[in-house]
Amino acid sequence: MGMWQFRIFPAISMLLLGALPVLAQHEYTESEIEAGKAQYAINCVRCHGPDGDNITNADIGHGKSRRATTDAEFVALIREGISGTRMVAFPNINEQNAQTIVAYLRSMASTANAAASLPPGDVARGKTIFEGKGGCRTCHRVGDQGSRTGPDLSQIGAQRRVVELHRSILEPDAEIIPANRFLRIVTKDGSALTGKLLNQDSFTVQILDVKDEKLKSFSKSNLREYTFVSNSPMPSYKDKLSTQELSDLISYLASLKGQAN
Ligand code: HEC
Ligand code: HEC
Repeated sequence: MGMWQFRIFPAISMLLLGALPVLAQHEYTESEIEAGKAQYAINCVRCHGPDGDNITNADIGHGKSRRATTDAEFVALIREGISGTRMVAFPNINEQNAQTIVAYLRSMASTANAAASLPPGDVARGKTIFEGKGGCRTCHRVGDQGSRTGPDLSQIGAQRRVVELHRSILEPDAEIIPANRFLRIVTKDGSALTGKLLNQDSFTVQILDVKDEKLKSFSKSNLREYTFVSNSPMPSYKDKLSTQELSDLISYLASLKGQAN
């Protein structure tokens, strides 16, 4: 659904793209890496996958590239492609933007092992945990099953890296994607509710109430408070899952690459 668009165009990274200094090799700022992440999501993820390892013999997410070593070689490879393969040329990605992609690839390689200590996971067991003990479907939807209060996870495996899934489960507050933020509303007569922002214009706001999953519409002139919630409504599963269960769950999420409903 439309949320994907929000995710791959984080407003801040796009703004920064215009103002990047010339990059020194191997030294990148957080904002350059963020900008590269957005570029990667737009141009590369569909073939290389969120962890860069979707294509056999062309793992670009773990510092193993066979064809490029230096930043300049990566930039050239991105802009010129590899003739005779599905690795097309990206002449429209200018040198500066290509540099940010290289920054992101380097940062992927250096953060990839955060979840590497986990034992191998089992997709089927992970599904059982997702639907049973984890209670994930009380908030999340996969295919046509589950709730719509949390983000739809039907395609999460095509969008997020394993380390990101790991962090989402253990530290839900660490990073909340703007499109996933919740809104707290207090009306002038004092009733309060929290929900997912669906739509708004100058006069009204529509939200999906977390409690009953119903769409509610408010006239802005009737509201006393209207603020984004900084904590995630999702509980941390840090002490609720064994290492094996965590790994199974992540394997299941990583396998979800279908169409969102
Ligand atoms: C249409 C699918 C496709 C897209 C989109 C794509 N690639 Fe590729 N890429 C490939 C394939 C296939 C290969 C392997 C080519 C070969 O060596 O046979 C490859 C190879 C590479 C390599 C060399 C890997 C190595 O081992 O040296 C790099 C680096 C690379 N791609 C980066 C990117 C980046 C960055 C983007 C986004 C700007 C991107 N690719 C977009 C399909 C794609
Ligand atoms: C009480 C509701 C609730 C429960 C239960 C819950 N989640 Fe969440 N989850 C959310 C909300 C809301 C978000 C969006 C805000 C955020 O990123 O924390 C979220 C975010 C996520 C994300 C990140 C999505 C993205 O787009 O990056 C993942 C992955 C995730 N949840 C997995 C799970 C799994 C797996 C379980 C079960 C073990 C679970 N959640 C249980 C509410 C919930």
